Amino acid sequence: MKPIQVGLLGLGTVGSGTYEVLKRNQAEIQRRLGRPVVISMVADLDTAKAQALVGPDCQVVADAKQVIANPEIDIVIELIGGYGIALELVMSAIEAGKHVVTANKALLAVHGNAIFAAAQRQGVMVGYEAAVAGGIPIIKSLREGLSANRIEWLAGIINGTTNFILTEMREKGLSFDVALKEAQALGYAEADPTFDIQGIDAAHKVSIMSAIAFGIPMPFAKAYIEGITQLQAEDIEFAKQLGYRIKLLGISKKTAHGIELRVHPSLVSEKSLIANVEGAMNAVMVKADAVGTTLYYGKGAGGEPTASAVIADLVDIARLSTADAACRVPYLAYQPAAIQDLPVLAIDDVETCHYLRLGVADQAGVLANVTGVLAECGISIDAMLQQPAAHGLDQTELIILTHVAQERVMNAAIQKIQQLPTVLKPVIRIRKEDLS
Ligand code: HSE
Repeated sequence: MKPIQVGLLGLGTVGSGTYEVLKRNQAEIQRRLGRPVVISMVADLDTAKAQALVGPDCQVVADAKQVIANPEIDIVIELIGGYGIALELVMSAIEAGKHVVTANKALLAVHGNAIFAAAQRQGVMVGYEAAVAGGIPIIKSLREGLSANRIEWLAGIINGTTNFILTEMREKGLSFDVALKEAQALGYAEADPTFDIQGIDAAHKVSIMSAIAFGIPMPFAKAYIEGITQLQAEDIEFAKQLGYRIKLLGISKKTAHGIELRVHPSLVSEKSLIANVEGAMNAVMVKADAVGTTLYYGKGAGGEPTASAVIADLVDIARLSTADAACRVPYLAYQPAAIQDLPVLAIDDVETCHYLRLGVADQAGVLANVTGVLAECGISIDAMLQQPAAHGLDQTELIILTHVAQERVMNAAIQKIQQLPTVLKPVIRIRKEDLS
């Protein structure tokens, strides 16, 4: 049978991983697919290096547009990244009637709605399993595996760089800067690591998951995003003393009022499975009405783990390329006409538990004043920890865990607490997730 011909744009870590895995496992993949699939054309600016890597049977060009213009190519894999040239290439591949596979979470989070609309017009597929959590088949699980369910919420550690940094800070007491340099040296970080540490990369990924979990248009522009740059080592330590770990979570929940969509550091019980996802590993928890809670764990980055997801999309597309377009799995899991533009809630409307750290004067009545403000605002306290004042100092740290409170109410309480003359430093607040 005629092989499916694939054009690969970008032969970096994931591109070469894809080429290698496809070659190594060709026989096994063909057993699953029923016909061969070959990467017959590659575009990369370093043509000499690329040609040496792929050998003489594959055509290498510097200009990606040549791949798209080749009528023999059935599927284009975009592994360039970013939303500059990658957007132009993906759109022109779609316009040329080619199916597309991409690992580009930034591109889909920002331009996904336009890309899927164009793909639908052209009757082509866009596979993006590799865009979220690398090798973990979370897109397929949400879109197909859980399609019997009403999905209630999902929460994930979906950025390996920040999880690695938080693990190193907690386990080895490293500073943020040293841990970040290590993560970069190990190749986990994005080209621009601000996308990792400011939570933007995680927001891209949680937005994609939210869209397919709840059948809404790509909601990235409405996401609340807070990274780990403001997180201090003391809070990691205090959380530890209270039995919690701090993780950067991407969270999306369906509530009666709309969709919560947020990325921020969160306290999670050290006994929970997700708290024990360490180093650069990723994990996503999904709560759905029929199946209950499920957990997906694995490598969220790297050449071969991400290649595993890219090739899974290739196989799906190759399998379905002869089926009726209407029978295909919809781009955003729900039929385009069934997408509902549910409101994505402002962070002020979100309800969570909170960890507060207060630098206070060590005097009579201080605790009563602080708890008085919380009581006035209707915020209930779950646990408290007070550090003995350091020798010779008349100030101390007061740690408070609260029960669920609305963000808007908590903001007002923090503002009032901040104005107490005995509160000496800016109040530190970290949200806490129960995930039960
Ligand atoms: N920079 C990303 C991470 C790579 O740290 O998870 C995979 O998307």
